[in-house]
Amino acid sequence: MIKKAIILAGGLGTRMSPLTKAVNKQLLPIYDKPLIYYPLSILMLAGIKEILIIVNKGQLSQFKKILSDGKRFGIKISYLEQIYPRGLPDAFILGEKFIGKDNVALILGDNFFYGQSLTKKLKECVKIKSGCKILLHPVKKPELYGVANITSGKKVRSLKEKPKNSKSNLAVTGLYFFDNKVIKYSKLLKPSKRKELEIIDLLDKYLKKKKLSAEFLGRGGAWLDTGSIDDFYDASSFVSAMENRQGLKIACLEEIALNYKWINKKEVQEAINFYGNCIYSQYLKKTYKLKNVKNTSFWRKWKICK
Ligand code: G1P
Repeated sequence: MIKKAIILAGGLGTRMSPLTKAVNKQLLPIYDKPLIYYPLSILMLAGIKEILIIVNKGQLSQFKKILSDGKRFGIKISYLEQIYPRGLPDAFILGEKFIGKDNVALILGDNFFYGQSLTKKLKECVKIKSGCKILLHPVKKPELYGVANITSGKKVRSLKEKPKNSKSNLAVTGLYFFDNKVIKYSKLLKPSKRKELEIIDLLDKYLKKKKLSAEFLGRGGAWLDTGSIDDFYDASSFVSAMENRQGLKIACLEEIALNYKWINKKEVQEAINFYGNCIYSQYLKKTYKLKNVKNTSFWRKWKICK
């Protein structure tokens, strides 16, 4: 059972400059919450409670301000700074101490997943004892992603990073489940032409050893990556449409934690106070019939000043 995961939230976000000059991309909004809430919610739905977030050097305090140590969501979050983005497998080299002797999942900080029976699928994926599991989903422009060619029996035949003319439209999404060998294999990788360690090369090591399996998100599932400003708008519209139609929030971390009994109602009340009066806390308040936002520390200070 995989109990640990890494969120890779580094990267320079150059395609989204100037938005990303001062703020990390993963902290920019997808509709009503920061982007990082979405991949974090996926890990939580999978039942993973020990999470390492890898961030750019100098941006740690931004993340801590909103996520802190994870206690608000009943999980444990630790952080590591990355001096320079050296490619996705670098996460396992940097995170060696965090991983220890365990198996580990990796999710890219800018990946968005949504779909029926997603939680069930995730709970299956975390069961892997050895090897690697990837999640595939069809896309219109496979040339932008890592792509898998599969056999008629849905087994992965080959993998290629950003192929120019791919026969397959199955992208390798940014959610991966690995056994502990991932640390050893990552250290064996050589930088590619774009001077990065490539996730596809890492997956290829598992494929060659017949230790790679694939899961499919399915037609009803949505996978969006948020690499560009237009992607941000698309993902925001998607979340806004779903949330406002159903009256249910996507990636409400306290809601997931409460449903899993990782936190109690009192802790949700504390979260409401932390967020202040906003749609996110109004949702929590309404769903769990909690009290109005009371900014106690503010009123206490105000009284003292008077
Ligand atoms: C990376 C991976 C690619 C994967 C994609 C998913 O691409 O290299 O294999 O399909 O994430 O988001 P990049 O974001 O580096 O273009």
